[in-house]
Amino acid sequence: MAGPSAKQLVCVTGAGGFIGSWLVKELLQRGYVVRGTARHPEDRKNAHLHALDGAKEHLSLYRADVLDCKALSAAFSSCAGVFHVASPVSDDDPEVMSAAIEGTKNVVNAAADMGVKRVVFTSSYGAVHMDPNRSPNQTLDENCWSDLEFCKQTKNLYCYAKTVAEKTAMEEASKRGIQLLVVVPSLTIGEMLQPTLTLSVSLVVASYMKGKKKYPNAVAAYVDVQDVARAHVLVYENLAASGRYLCIGDVLHRSEFLQMIRELFPQYPITTKYVSAF
Ligand SMILES: NC(=O)c1ccc[n+]([C@@H]2O[C@H](COP(=O)([O-])OP(=O)(O)OC[C@H]3O[C@@H](n4cnc5c(N)ncnc54)[C@H](OP(=O)(O)O)[C@@H]3O)[C@@H](O)[C@H]2O)c1
Repeated sequence: MAGPSAKQLVCVTGAGGFIGSWLVKELLQRGYVVRGTARHPEDRKNAHLHALDGAKEHLSLYRADVLDCKALSAAFSSCAGVFHVASPVSDDDPEVMSAAIEGTKNVVNAAADMGVKRVVFTSSYGAVHMDPNRSPNQTLDENCWSDLEFCKQTKNLYCYAKTVAEKTAMEEASKRGIQLLVVVPSLTIGEMLQPTLTLSVSLVVASYMKGKKKYPNAVAAYVDVQDVARAHVLVYENLAASGRYLCIGDVLHRSEFLQMIRELFPQYPITTKYVSAF
């Protein structure tokens, strides 16, 4: 079913980040008028956004922390849709809980206050796979949720925060009559538009290039960042879409993934040693 079309005004939170930047690019390419939020729009780390095709005419950046409801409302005013991408990707950032959970609540409510009809929320595979009681043979799908106690026990604050944030988004959207679509990407890799290294690329690629000694004896799910960006627009535009959509390109054992890196970058000493994942 064809949905919202080009020339609509939409807002992307966390526009300068890894996924946010590709989403802004995708939206501009499709003819949308885009507002991006960043905590420091004037920072050099966001300069790449102004160089995107169509940015001069159709992109504006707004200053907004997700904990600042007034700033969010200003950014969302007159928007038809909001893509809520912003969230710290870290287990160590002390702000991960509040920015993910309170931030998401603020975004959905500010969107509702401003008359926005559709919100796309970027969740994470971290909100899906963390459950020690699930059989290894079980196929993971959109019905699967991470176990909050297990996330806490294993100090996976990021997975905890994203799980609660996604549930919060659903509750608030339902209370406020917002149509919520959730994209659930796995480990996202690929070309970066922004000048600084993102944590996912740093953890799964750069750390091995820098000589990380052992890899986990486990599989992981990967997806290309451009597919993630496209998935956000597809669920937004398809009015028949609803709920969660896992966004996964491939599932690989870490050894297979590292073999690919070894072949692409033979000059780096990629380890062949592994440790038990559990
Ligand atoms: N990368 C992955 O493998 C992966 C996989 C699944 C899901 N995700 C999800 O995708 C989203 C984007 O991740 P990414 O990989 O693109 O990370 P990233 O490059 O580190 O971007 C994170 C973004 O969040 C913004 N942000 C952080 N705290 C904020 C706050 N308090 N207020 C406003 N903005 C804030 C940052 O904005 P500033 O520029 O202002 O710092 C930045 O734009 C996140 O929701 C993440 O959970 C990522």
